[in-house]
Amino acid sequence: MPDRATGPVLGIESSCDDTAAAVLAADGRILAEAVASQADHAAFGGVVPEIAARAHLSHLPALVARVMAQAGLGFADLAAVAASSGPGLIGGLIVGSGFAKGVAIARGLPFVAVNHLEAHALTARLPELQAGAAFPYLLLLVSGGHCQCVAVEGVGRYRRLGGTIDDAVGEAFDKVAKLLGLGWPGGPAVERLAAGGDARRFAFPRPLLGRQGCDFSFSGLKTAVSTAISAYQAGSLPAQDAADIAAGFQQAVADTLVDRAGHAMAMFTAAHAGPRLLVVAGGVAANATLRAAIQVACDRHGFRFAAPPLRLCTDNAVMVAWAALERLRLGLVDRLDHAPRPRWPLDAPDMLLA
Ligand code: KG4
Ligand code: ZN
Repeated sequence: MPDRATGPVLGIESSCDDTAAAVLAADGRILAEAVASQADHAAFGGVVPEIAARAHLSHLPALVARVMAQAGLGFADLAAVAASSGPGLIGGLIVGSGFAKGVAIARGLPFVAVNHLEAHALTARLPELQAGAAFPYLLLLVSGGHCQCVAVEGVGRYRRLGGTIDDAVGEAFDKVAKLLGLGWPGGPAVERLAAGGDARRFAFPRPLLGRQGCDFSFSGLKTAVSTAISAYQAGSLPAQDAADIAAGFQQAVADTLVDRAGHAMAMFTAAHAGPRLLVVAGGVAANATLRAAIQVACDRHGFRFAAPPLRLCTDNAVMVAWAALERLRLGLVDRLDHAPRPRWPLDAPDMLLA
């Protein structure tokens, strides 16, 4: 097997509710990309794993055919095939990695089992983003499934500085949206409602504020929002009060992220000399109030702030193919019996390279 990509790589993402495929050239240029979001979960107020897995199965063949056609390539032209193989919902991971392995077997291609978190972590290094994300840098990953600060020191060299001890931040947005009857996914709806609200009216807690380290906690904040809403009779929450609650919640999250990211930046600076860069990734990075707050925190701590465009912050397959390219450059490929796994921390023994 070739130990580095000498041609294009196909990447597949299916770890949660987005089915995605992308083809990248060996130098990282994006040749084609597509995402099929699953609307099927809205009626349930959250992702239903079994529905997600079946939807991946039905979307994936056409999606892969589409990106291959867009790239003007056949499977025989590929140098490798990659798929998110964890962490995530196991049904979807099995569908995506099984599909990628099928192509690899049929064409005798190397297979790369990509860690989804590594894919988020390395996205800022995509050549066309010109983010100049040279190692080391600090990653703040804020999504529906993850909330953590990681020192990214190289491919396979990750130090987790802290993370949530209960809910992920996007999960908190989704739960608050549900409490306010805003539908799903909740983040964008909460942000829209908060725009017309007074953030000072409701005094919600800022969990772990000032505490050592950079762990996060959002369950107490979520409970406080729930308590505030339950003070109203069902169906009688005035529109302005709902907006004030949304704004108060969002501001509590902003203050928490600024404080926690500030600690992470101090921890990073203590351990690394040289340029300081904070990269944000994950769907919550779409929130303008949070982005602005993190930018201010970066200015305060002398960090440059980089946020990939939104389509590459949320789940996508470009990041999967790119992480595979980074691994292939180091001669890393995976066996076809590599088992996808629901839990796969970035600092797991099989992730770390010396
Ligand atoms: O990264 P992502 O697409 O999927 C994973 O969870 O991996 O992130 C989705 C999360 C959802 O919880 C969604 O509510 C949240 O990102 N989100 C937002 C916004 N847009 C998406 N949260 C706050 N404000 C937003 N504008
Ligand atoms: Zn993700």
